Amino acid sequence: MKRNKMTIVGAGNVGATTAHIAATRQLGDIVLIDIVKGLAEGKALDMAEAAPVQLYDSHIVGTLDWKETSDSDIVIITSGLPRKAGMSRDDLLAKNAQIVKEVSSQAARYSPDSMIIVVCNPLDAMVYVASKVTGFAKNKVMGMAGALDAARFSCFLAMELGVSVEEIKCVLMGGHGDDMVPLPRFTSVGGIPIGELLDEDTIERLIGRTRNGGIEVVNILGSSAYYAPAAGAVKMAEAILKDKKTVIPCCAYCDSEYDAGGYFVGVPAILGGEGVEKVIELNLNDSEHRQFRQSLAHVKELVKKVDELL
Ligand code: LAC
Repeated sequence: MKRNKMTIVGAGNVGATTAHIAATRQLGDIVLIDIVKGLAEGKALDMAEAAPVQLYDSHIVGTLDWKETSDSDIVIITSGLPRKAGMSRDDLLAKNAQIVKEVSSQAARYSPDSMIIVVCNPLDAMVYVASKVTGFAKNKVMGMAGALDAARFSCFLAMELGVSVEEIKCVLMGGHGDDMVPLPRFTSVGGIPIGELLDEDTIERLIGRTRNGGIEVVNILGSSAYYAPAAGAVKMAEAILKDKKTVIPCCAYCDSEYDAGGYFVGVPAILGGEGVEKVIELNLNDSEHRQFRQSLAHVKELVKKVDELL
């Protein structure tokens, strides 16, 4: 039987951490690729040497050569510039669009039957680039952001309530930007809606912290987050490789869904062996609907800009 094969593009903080988490979760063999000589090879060798202690069987190789990525089941694109203090995700648009264009075309060439998970920013626009360049079916191209944003919201709720993160379920929509739309009405702790446990002001404060979750880390660390983004990417890959049918907020193609009109944007979706198997359409109230439209309008603007650059 063929083992699962995953290519992780970019061996920086997000890429290497994604590879390591994927290995510890026994998701299959991993090829780490980067254009910086030695970076992917060195980190992959180090991870291979950790295997006897951590007991994973994944073969992990690092390379500069796309040929080694051939016939991957999943390609996770983490390459691109990260944010520094004072930058918005949108400031990365032009540089990262070129990088995602280049690596997506290599991914399509060497792994024409793969699924693509994009992690770099500005996320929703970069997923569009990968879709356009690869020409893959829309269910096979997606972006990781909702899993991260929902994890942040869950983390802050758990801290506030002093409860385990295990029982917190969050739903979140919209683009991966300051106008993302956390949905407290669909967020629960041990099955209890959070409105039963926290007052409105506290919920608003935690939503604000979630919206600023990326920049909070940048401001403290001086560079972009990577443990939580990597964990989110692996969660999506695992749902696909194990055909789990996991409900995960992620950046997925929506046409009639939410009346989006053919854009990749954050929505709750079922991920399984066919990639994005279904976008779940929630019955949004007026305020939620308005916030989603506003976030979608921002995604559309970025897509328009990136289209002019391609
Ligand atoms: C963040 C970056 C990865 O939210 O977008 O931390």
